[in-house]
Amino acid sequence: MAQPLDARVAACLVCHGENGQSAIAEVPSLGGQPAFYLLIQLFMFRERMRVVEVMNATTRGLSDNELRSLADTVAKLPPPPPAGGPTDPARLERARALIEQHRCNFCHKRDYSGEESVPRLAGQREDYLVKALRQYKDNTRRAYDTSMADVLYLISDEQLLDLAYFLARVR
Ligand code: HEC
Ligand code: HEC
Repeated sequence: MAQPLDARVAACLVCHGENGQSAIAEVPSLGGQPAFYLLIQLFMFRERMRVVEVMNATTRGLSDNELRSLADTVAKLPPPPPAGGPTDPARLERARALIEQHRCNFCHKRDYSGEESVPRLAGQREDYLVKALRQYKDNTRRAYDTSMADVLYLISDEQLLDLAYFLARVR
């Protein structure tokens, strides 16, 4: 039975956060994500190319058009603000050097807002960023292309923690 779009989106935001910002550990904020990135990931969940049980179940049986409406609606939520609190300048400096070296800000844009198939990283939850980077590195997350596996090949687990720390706080 077809569910109206509003009701469907409301169900998503119970987990992902009504204002675009997630308050739940390891659940990503979706506000400000490029609509095309969201569409690709929803498609990959539906096809079980990216395996996350709750997301595979949520997208099962939805049409391409339904996925597109969800992506377009969610993309309009406001982007999450940077994480607050005191910051460790040494960690930020190490992350900046890694970002220059690996050109993260070339694909993800200089302000880390993402575009097209490349996600926004600015203000994303730090725990989710760590999880995502580890999953690309150990090949448990299938991606749309090989960009991230190639990049992470040369990045250690310690470096990945600094990168997530920086990106969650970037303004
Ligand atoms: C029960 C909680 C829950 C519900 C309901 C839920 N999600 Fe998710 N969603 C998750 C979790 C957890 C992940 C992260 C999976 C991972 O660790 O890779 C996720 C990931 C995503 C991603 C990938 C984001 C990224 O940055 O790669 C998108 C897009 C998404 N969800 C959209 C939706 C939409 C649209 C709905 C409603 C139709 C929805 N979600 C409903 C828990 C939920
Ligand atoms: C050649 C382009 C490219 C470069 C360079 C690149 N990325 Fe990515 N990144 C992508 C693409 C494309 C995706 C989405 C892949 C997918 O389908 O899962 C992505 C996804 C991600 C995600 C997952 C976000 C989410 O919401 O799930 C994180 C985190 C990330 N990149 C961080 C980085 C960091 C940190 C660097 C530098 C060390 C970097 N990226 C360099 C293209 C790139």
